[in-house]
Amino acid sequence: MPKPHIPLDELRVQVESCRRCPLCDGRTQTVFGVGNPHARVMFIGEAPGKNEDLQGEPFVGAAGHYLNELLGCAGLRREDVFIANVLKCRPPGNRDPRPEEIQTCTPFLREQTRTIDPEVLVTLGKFSTQFVLKTQVGITRLHGRVQRAGKFLVFPIFHPAAALYDGAKREALENDFVTLGQLLHQLDEHK
Ligand code: URA
Repeated sequence: MPKPHIPLDELRVQVESCRRCPLCDGRTQTVFGVGNPHARVMFIGEAPGKNEDLQGEPFVGAAGHYLNELLGCAGLRREDVFIANVLKCRPPGNRDPRPEEIQTCTPFLREQTRTIDPEVLVTLGKFSTQFVLKTQVGITRLHGRVQRAGKFLVFPIFHPAAALYDGAKREALENDFVTLGQLLHQLDEHK
């Protein structure tokens, strides 16, 4: 018998009270994720930054504003999708997530993914891509190409923060969002 899905509200409460790793000591609050609980597309970022830690919502700073703009290139709006991160607490000074933090925190992400059950996981940047695809291959090689992880289609893209001040990555990211829109269209046609 497959394990029953944990409702998102219940998962949120579990995340809010989590003290499984030392990141809990530095947080203002946890950042669970936001969006449509029945989204067909789920975006997975890296970890909350300063603004996200203060506001309790993922991608609300400069990278988030850019992400909102990019969604339009795929014919999506922020309220259509679900947005979450690999880590639910902000690493100090926005340093990279550590392997043990990823290992400790990602059972929450796994449950979110099972409950939301999207068709496509869009992984933003190296950490979420390498976690979801269980690979060490870099995002520069993987971005913009549809992969599969179990029942999910996975579409890796550059992290919007990395593209903010890098013209070549910006162009790649914008093209990848157009490709994502085409993929969703194709999936619709096969329904
Ligand atoms: N970068 C991320 O990866 N996630 C956020 O929520 C904000 C910035």
